[in-house]
Amino acid sequence: MARIPLRSDPTGLDLAALEAPPDWKVVFGGGEGPLEVEIGCGAGGFALEYCRRNPTVRYLAFEWRKKYAREVAFRGQKGGLGNLRVIEADAKQVLPKILAPSSVDAFHLQFPDPWWKRAHQRRAILWPDFTAFLVSRLKPGGLFDFRTDVEDRATPGLTLLEAAGLENPLGKGQFHPFDPDEVPSTRERRYLVTGQPVYRARLRKPI
Ligand SMILES: C[S@@+](CC[C@H](N)C(=O)[O-])C[C@H]1O[C@@H](n2cnc3c(N)ncnc32)[C@H](O)[C@@H]1O
Repeated sequence: MARIPLRSDPTGLDLAALEAPPDWKVVFGGGEGPLEVEIGCGAGGFALEYCRRNPTVRYLAFEWRKKYAREVAFRGQKGGLGNLRVIEADAKQVLPKILAPSSVDAFHLQFPDPWWKRAHQRRAILWPDFTAFLVSRLKPGGLFDFRTDVEDRATPGLTLLEAAGLENPLGKGQFHPFDPDEVPSTRERRYLVTGQPVYRARLRKPI
């Protein structure tokens, strides 16, 4: 997906403009399936395959780079994925308006940008106040799926998530090995070929 065109149809602007949580049943045209949210879906390798494998899941994929967001939306439509909504917006701006407390079954945060420059660090998804917000939106028993290849971000990210109240079934500070049943993200597929280390955590909100 290196040289993809910018498709002309924006995606998810209706959801991005909401000022309050919608009725997700209406948004997804019926169904009561789990509500799952991905922040920064990039080229959409995870979102597209995960939605295909899990047709009852209602999936919100945020990606602020329009080119990628529109391409993922296009591919989802082409693939008949009625359970996928792609939103071309800043997840940190929109999610606080559209997610009710304890309403999300899973968050997927895979290979988030590390924001190396000190002046940019507050843009990180795993920043203390936004992490606390995300945990507050998870249902009891809900999943936080965190993956990164950046060693310097892996343990601090996991520590932050555990400190925000999520439980690590493997024990504090532990990452889990690659599970072949898990859908890899676009970036992860590359690392599975090159063998570059990936740090994976699957944390749960206590019931
Ligand atoms: C390193 S890429 C990883 C993409 C994908 N998750 C993967 O594993 O292949 C991180 C993505 O997050 C997006 N992103 C970062 N911050 C975001 C935000 N606040 N809202 C929406 N997208 C964001 C970036 O544009 C980028 O596409």
